[in-house]
Amino acid sequence: MSALGKLLRTTAFQLTLVYLLVFIVFAASLLGYFALNTRRLITEQITTTVNTEINGLSEQYTQGGIRRLVIVVDLRSRRPGSSLYLVTTPTGEGLAGNVGSLEPGVLDHPGWLETNYRRLDAPEGNDHRALVQVVQLPGGFHLLVGRDLEERERLFDIIANAGKWSIALVIVLGLVGGFFVSRRVLKRIDAMTETAQTIMAGDLSGRLPVAGTGDELDRLADHVNAMLERIEALMKGLKEVSDNIAHDLKTPLTRLRNRCEQALRRPTGDSGYRAALETTIAESDDLIRTFDALLMIARAESGQARDNMMEFDAAQIVRDVGELYEPLAEQKGLELRVEAPAAALVRGNRELVSQALANLIDNAIKYAAPNGKVDETANGMANGVPAEIVVAAGKEGERIALSVADRGPGIPEADRSRVVERFVRLEQSRSEPGSGLGLSLASAVARLHGGELKLEDNHPGLRSIIALPRAGPVVTG
Ligand SMILES: Nc1ncnc2c1ncn2[C@@H]1O[C@H](COP(=O)(O)OP(=O)(O)OP(=O)(O)O)[C@@H](O)[C@H]1O
Ligand SMILES: [Mg+2]
Repeated sequence: MSALGKLLRTTAFQLTLVYLLVFIVFAASLLGYFALNTRRLITEQITTTVNTEINGLSEQYTQGGIRRLVIVVDLRSRRPGSSLYLVTTPTGEGLAGNVGSLEPGVLDHPGWLETNYRRLDAPEGNDHRALVQVVQLPGGFHLLVGRDLEERERLFDIIANAGKWSIALVIVLGLVGGFFVSRRVLKRIDAMTETAQTIMAGDLSGRLPVAGTGDELDRLADHVNAMLERIEALMKGLKEVSDNIAHDLKTPLTRLRNRCEQALRRPTGDSGYRAALETTIAESDDLIRTFDALLMIARAESGQARDNMMEFDAAQIVRDVGELYEPLAEQKGLELRVEAPAAALVRGNRELVSQALANLIDNAIKYAAPNGKVDETANGMANGVPAEIVVAAGKEGERIALSVADRGPGIPEADRSRVVERFVRLEQSRSEPGSGLGLSLASAVARLHGGELKLEDNHPGLRSIIALPRAGPVVTG
């Protein structure tokens, strides 16, 4: 398509054409109405004047007969800018007036009519149009009174001409304006198309140009750019996951395989095989758990889980999950305390929020009482403070905070942003089982709900908080 053809087909140009047409129709109607009304007003004015004069002259005739009428008409005819007058005998011979010639037969038709005429003092061929009234006086005399229509026609012409020229000007200006606007829009669309093509070619870092005018194209570009940002982040996440899987799952799988090979190589009888198989099953279970966790994180990160959102009481979840972990905590010599006195409504995926909270409690139990149990000799004390875990739900501004606070070693500030990444485990916790996915899931779930996972110092210990947007009023009490 040629550049001009492309330009003429733009929405901006076609809109210009439509507006131009609407404006022309509107302007033409307005001018037409104005012109016709002016014309009508002038005609009305002429009619009134002529009627008044006819009445006056008829009166003169009644009072003083034809002689007096002739004198009055003669007088009036001589005034500058006077009306048209003609008094004739019943046979049509002129007695007085300023009309030199008329269209034939005009005097035979009493009443109103438009006719061509020439004034007595005007040269030959200088005919004009006039609106006249003819009356037949008693006695058969004819009286004609009228006004020249030149003024009316001139005014009409002036308006019509002004209309024509202004419409022509509007068309030219409209087309030129439409042309420039369309060219500007087209240039920006072309720039966007170019960027889109580089993105389609695989370069996800490309962004649509934003002119900064805040118009609809800018808004579109902003939204598309935000979308690209998200797609790029998802792609990056996807790549990270596959890299993680390649690195972190390969090791346990290789270990599993080597163990089986070893068992086969050194025949140790039934019991040996059984032991090897049992270990294999246990390790496979770990692998399956890791896969499940990875899938759950992917689900939360992709936003797919948004379909299952509903309103629920987070305080209830805190109580339920807390209760579930109580025996495990007790077994490890820890006291698990639940503080969720009031309803805390949030909107979200119940299953994912429960799992995220369970991960935090699991961490607290696991890392606050390392190597199985809290030091018995310390009388249920960890780091010199009571070895309790507090699981709570409550209002925090416009958010609902689900928190788990322990008295364990905590996480050094420098490591807090790192531990939420997949498969990241701190050196100090290598002795505990785990794959480093618990906090990643909690963080992904919080973000899915428009909230965040915060890790704070509990002086001593760790306080991990899932902050979610509030769905309803929180009843405090
Ligand atoms: N309450 C805590 N106190 C001390 N360190 C913690 C605590 N919670 C988490 N960490 C540290 O953060 C790391 C990441 O925790 P995360 O829950 O993601 O993985 P994990 O517990 O090691 O394994 P998983 O949860 O997948 O079984 C842990 O390995 C540990 O080093
Ligand atoms: Mg964990």
